[in-house]
Amino acid sequence: MSTNMTNFRKEYQYDHLSEENAGADPFALFERWLQLAGESAIHEPNAMALATATPNGRPSIRMVLLKGVDRTGFTFFTNYHSHKGRELAINPFASLLFWWEPLERQVRIEGAIEKLPAAVSDEYYYSRPLGSRLGAWVSQQSKVIPNRAVLDTRLGELQAEYRDKHPDRPPFWGGYRLVPEQFEFWQGGVNRLHDRLRYCRQPDAAWLRERLAP
Ligand SMILES: Cc1cc2nc3c(=O)[nH]c(=O)nc-3n(C[C@H](O)[C@H](O)[C@H](O)COP(=O)(O)O)c2cc1C
Repeated sequence: MSTNMTNFRKEYQYDHLSEENAGADPFALFERWLQLAGESAIHEPNAMALATATPNGRPSIRMVLLKGVDRTGFTFFTNYHSHKGRELAINPFASLLFWWEPLERQVRIEGAIEKLPAAVSDEYYYSRPLGSRLGAWVSQQSKVIPNRAVLDTRLGELQAEYRDKHPDRPPFWGGYRLVPEQFEFWQGGVNRLHDRLRYCRQPDAAWLRERLAP
């Protein structure tokens, strides 16, 4: 490997994050930043890295799409039998990370994970295009498969079977909600003196805001 990483060095200069602009409510700040990310050239501003871990602390990470956020938490959908699903079943804590490069902004969120009620997973599943609904049935996500053809063959079979009817939601596919205990908002700064504001949920449900060294 010979790629010279010094060629990638960039200065950050887009903005500052002051306590005054950030405000007291991390959900409101997140929604403002997500909105701005959506108005920028970012292809999928709702794409986020999801980190999970085994109970003995071996982490794993992958991208998923944020499908909803409100004061109850951050929701995403996946296969409950996948690698992440198996980790979350025994260690229901996770971390989310957004990187909105044109805005030089990173957001980290940590908290406990709960499964969405079946009715909520149904609502989202039935809103998806038929191909995606069948795809959820086809893929035993994270399992080893012999080749690509098994997926295409199975999809073809299901497309024929479901030409005139709707598939039910697979019992192994649905949503999770991450209930935040902590947020950190990062705004890139000149000379690597970035702004970092952390919000920790207090026992009375108020948010403690603190500035962290970059
Ligand atoms: C931008 C992007 C968005 C993705 N969104 C999802 C998603 O919402 N749900 C999902 O299960 N996998 C999604 N994936 C695929 C996952 O990154 C991952 O490959 C898959 O969930 C299996 O992960 P696991 O084996 O760790 O469980 C996405 C991948 C990318 C690159």
